[in-house]
Amino acid sequence: MKQHLQLHTGQEMPLLGLGTWNSPPGEVARAVEHALLRANYDHIDCAKVYGNEPEIGGAFQQVFSSGKRKRTDVFITSKLWNTDHDPADVAAACRQTLADLQLEYLDLYLMHWGVAFKQGVGDKPMGRDGEMELASVPLVDTWRAMEQLVEEGLVKAIGVANFGVAQLLDLLTYANIKPAVNQVELHPYNSQPQLVAFCQRHDVQLTGYSPLGSPGLSGHQIRLLDEPVLVSIAAAHGKTPAQVALNWNAARNVVVIPKSTTPERIDQNGQIFDFELTPEEREQIDVLNRNYRFVNPAVPWGLPYFA
Ligand code: A2P
Repeated sequence: MKQHLQLHTGQEMPLLGLGTWNSPPGEVARAVEHALLRANYDHIDCAKVYGNEPEIGGAFQQVFSSGKRKRTDVFITSKLWNTDHDPADVAAACRQTLADLQLEYLDLYLMHWGVAFKQGVGDKPMGRDGEMELASVPLVDTWRAMEQLVEEGLVKAIGVANFGVAQLLDLLTYANIKPAVNQVELHPYNSQPQLVAFCQRHDVQLTGYSPLGSPGLSGHQIRLLDEPVLVSIAAAHGKTPAQVALNWNAARNVVVIPKSTTPERIDQNGQIFDFELTPEEREQIDVLNRNYRFVNPAVPWGLPYFA
């Protein structure tokens, strides 16, 4: 099974990366070191808002200075947070991430959400009416500033996250540098086949976040990894439901970034390319879709973003 995708920039993007959302600062460095030095990962997904980039930077420093891995052999992504959309702030936010991660460049820099938040009151400036406080920054202005980061050599590619088809259609009309990637929630309970087909037709590759259904999040009755179809297909292949869910996405050319800070699970999630699902098994998984989002800002942000 193939393990890389080609971006329109010509870069090879690994189909598997380590996710770091909700990886606590006390644990994430060990997870990143384990993934890069012992589990053969070559892709780490980060974001400023995850609050752990300084510790991940320490891990990169360890790994790259050890001489066991080269910076150029690892694909590193980070993301511009919603409070940094003003064109005057974009380069500073990117430079802060580079300083925290102790890197000279990023392979990919994503606009984390297609919405700008007001600055000056933390990452999530909640208004008194229970709705996030927004800033009047058009996405085109933010995108122009991100294009500048490519020109300056701070990042090799730019992309977006959490964009739907309507937002992408607009972006594609004005982008001088097309988005290389759209990172969205993708797993068997939220497979978004139309969005996936649209992006792939326009040469925008997809990264799927929460590819295991984020079992660590509270407040959800539904557990993807307990899904009987995944459990039975996993048994047939001598694999785990997690490995089946990851393989299914990777086989449809969706990059997966399972988060784990547990070494055994990091190892397990790294072993997804040594088996192939049959067409019938793929079909059984395809029909599990129920448009269920484990990540939806409607309640925490008071913003029906996906409506
Ligand atoms: P932990 O970090 O304690 O290992 P997602 O990437 O979909 O958001 O899922 C991340 C969650 O899934 C974390 O709570 C992580 O726990 C857990 N997890 C990661 N890999 C596996 C696995 N192979 N089997 C079961 N749970 C896993």
